Amino acid sequence: MSKVRISHLLKMKQAGEKLTAVTAYDASFSKLFHENGVEVMLIGDSLGMVLHGADTTLGVSIDDIAYHTHAVRNGAKDAFVIADMPFMSYPDPDTAGFNAAELMRAGANMVKMEGGEWLVDTVQHLTRQGIPVCAHLGLLPQQVHVIGGYRVQGKDPEQADKLINEGLQLQAAGAQLLVVECIPSSLGKRFSEALDIPVIGIGAGPDTDGQILVMHDMLGMNAEYLPKFTRNFLIGNDCLAEAVQSYVAAVKNGSFPGPEHSFS
Ligand code: KIV
Repeated sequence: MSKVRISHLLKMKQAGEKLTAVTAYDASFSKLFHENGVEVMLIGDSLGMVLHGADTTLGVSIDDIAYHTHAVRNGAKDAFVIADMPFMSYPDPDTAGFNAAELMRAGANMVKMEGGEWLVDTVQHLTRQGIPVCAHLGLLPQQVHVIGGYRVQGKDPEQADKLINEGLQLQAAGAQLLVVECIPSSLGKRFSEALDIPVIGIGAGPDTDGQILVMHDMLGMNAEYLPKFTRNFLIGNDCLAEAVQSYVAAVKNGSFPGPEHSFS
């Protein structure tokens, strides 16, 4: 796959072509994903759970994300790579800028932060400093102890309107991508229609501009647990490359996610 840039992702949204994303944490998988058609890779703080075996993402540090970003970049020089800002690494704009710079130096094209209105100044600050931002709304795993568990967000109309409004504010502040997690499909559709920037969903229904999955879920690497919103693409395929191609094809032709992977 040739070099992926933010302008390419924006054109895909405008052309109605679904974009595909997956988490990656090392060079061998980033090479596999890039060679088999995945446009975006995220070094997610989910690594705390899937690599370190923790119950939450809260123990992940900037050094952890930088280390894995370096590896992912080494595996795929032309990939579009987003690095997650971990828990408490962006409490204010200056701290966020300092930490985000570490991730950009490690090879990221963009950083991702979880949160709404309170992040507007930080998004503006980073964008002004030349650090592109992906926002993240809906279920925010870094807030798990405040929310009281991993629950679907935006189910009541007032909360849904508030989330859309926060998406618009983050876009106005300079965010160039938005991830929306575990929200009703109808709200995923509203996000994609309301925003000009590409909206990538996970557990957000079929109508977002793209989909992202944690690679361990997409490849069925945890046999004991598969979240409702994901599918094991290794089933029915003989090798990892075919599984990744199936994921890309299913997102692009609209067969994934289906109603069984979505929330109402
Ligand atoms: O950390 C992560 O892997 C994420 C995705 C679930 C979007 O934020």
